[in-house]
Amino acid sequence: MASIVTLSGSPSAPSRTEAVLGHVERRLRARGHDVTRVVVRDLPADALLHADGAHPEVAAVVAAIADADGVVVTTPVYKAAYTGVLKALLDLLPQYALRGKTVLPVATGGSPAHVLALDYALRPVLVSLGAEHVTQGWFVLASEVTVYPQDAGVLLAESAARNLHLVTESFLTHLARHRSQLVTETDDDVVLRVSPRDDAAAPLLEDLVVEYGTRYGLSTPNTQLTEVPITDFDAPDGAFLVISRAGQTVAGGAIRRYDDETAEVKRVWTHAQFRRQGLARRVLHELELAAVSLGYKRIHLTTGPRQPEARALYLAAGYLPAFDLHADPEAIGPHAFDKELPPSTRRAAAQPAGAHTPSLAAGAGAGTQVDAADSIAPPPSYRSWGAA
Ligand SMILES: Cc1cc2nc3c(=O)[nH]c(=O)nc-3n(C[C@H](O)[C@H](O)[C@H](O)COP(=O)(O)O)c2cc1C
Repeated sequence: MASIVTLSGSPSAPSRTEAVLGHVERRLRARGHDVTRVVVRDLPADALLHADGAHPEVAAVVAAIADADGVVVTTPVYKAAYTGVLKALLDLLPQYALRGKTVLPVATGGSPAHVLALDYALRPVLVSLGAEHVTQGWFVLASEVTVYPQDAGVLLAESAARNLHLVTESFLTHLARHRSQLVTETDDDVVLRVSPRDDAAAPLLEDLVVEYGTRYGLSTPNTQLTEVPITDFDAPDGAFLVISRAGQTVAGGAIRRYDDETAEVKRVWTHAQFRRQGLARRVLHELELAAVSLGYKRIHLTTGPRQPEARALYLAAGYLPAFDLHADPEAIGPHAFDKELPPSTRRAAAQPAGAHTPSLAAGAGAGTQVDAADSIAPPPSYRSWGAA
C-alpha cells in the first residue's frame, strides 16, 4: 500500500477539478492505497499569502507530502497556466519537497488550446521541486465533466474517463517500481526486489499455498515447503524478487540463508497464465545473482516429488541432484539440489548455461511451481542495470 497525497489547486467550490480528482482518488483507494487530499484554498489564506511555512496547517501539509510515496497535483487552467492558489502552496514547500516521489499532474480547462499548460507550465515546477517521475498527465475539458449539485455524483465523458484511467495506472506502475527496488528490466517486464509483505508478492504466496495444498494435501513433509516464515526472505540474509508485467506479478521467487555460505531458493513460481515463456528460469537466474551479491557461494534447495516441471528447471539450470535420478520420486521424498555459484559479482557471470542442460528424462520432484517449458527455454536477453 502506497501513501498518496492529492492536491487540489482549484479556488472554486464546487469544482470540476475536484470532481475529476475524486474519480482518480476512488481508483487509488480501490487499489488499496492510502489517499490524503489537500484542498489548498482551505488552508489559512494569511499563511499562504505571507509564505508562512511555520503555520501548523501548512507544516502539516508539508509533513504529509514528505511522508508520501506519490503526489497527484490537480489544477484548473487559469490564464493559460496553473492557478495562483496552487502556486502559493508550492512556493511554501521545501526546495526538494518532491524528491524521490512519483507525481501525476491533472488539469481541467475550458479550451483545448491550453492543453499543453500541464507540460509547459506545471511540469517544470514539479521537476524543479525534485520530483523523480512526473508521469504522463491528463487535461480534462470542462465540457467533459458534469458535476451534480450537493455531492450527487459526477458524469465524465467516456474519453476523459478512459484517459484518466490510463494515466492513473501508469502513475501506479511507476509508484510500485519506485517503492520496490528495480533490479533489471526488458521492454515488457521489470524484475523488482520487494518485501515479502508487499502487495506484489501476494499473488505468488497465495497461489503457492493452493498449489502445494492441491499436490500434497495437508499431511506430507512437502507441505513444509510453504511453512517458512516470510521474514526469512528479508535483507540482509534473504531476497524476494518478482517479475512484473504491466503492473501484474507474473513470476517470482525468494532466497533465504541456509548456512554461512549457502542460500536456499524457495517459492519459485509462475502465474498460470504466463507459463511457457521462460519466466521461472529468469527468476532463478535473478535469484542466483542476488545470492552472489549477498555473498553466498552456493545455492541449496529442496523440492517435492510431484513437481516434475520444477525438477526439470533445476536440472536445466545446472543444479546437481543429491538423490538418484532414477529412483521413484515418491520414495525419495523431498528432493535436494545444490549449485556452486561463480565467484564473480557480474550479472553475466551467472547466466543460465543452456549448454550444460542435463537430461530431462529421469525422475521427478522439485518444491516449486513452475512450468516444464520454463525449464528448457533460455532466458531472453535483457538489459541489466548495474552490470559490470
Ligand atoms: C479566472 C479564470 C481563468 C480561466 N482561464 C482559462 C484558460 O486560460 N484556459 C482554459 O482552458 N480555461 C480557463 N478557465 C476555465 C477553467 O479552467 C475551467 O472552467 C475549469 O474546469 C474550472 O475548474 P474548477 O471548477 O475546478 O474551478 C478559466 C476560468 C477562470 C474562472
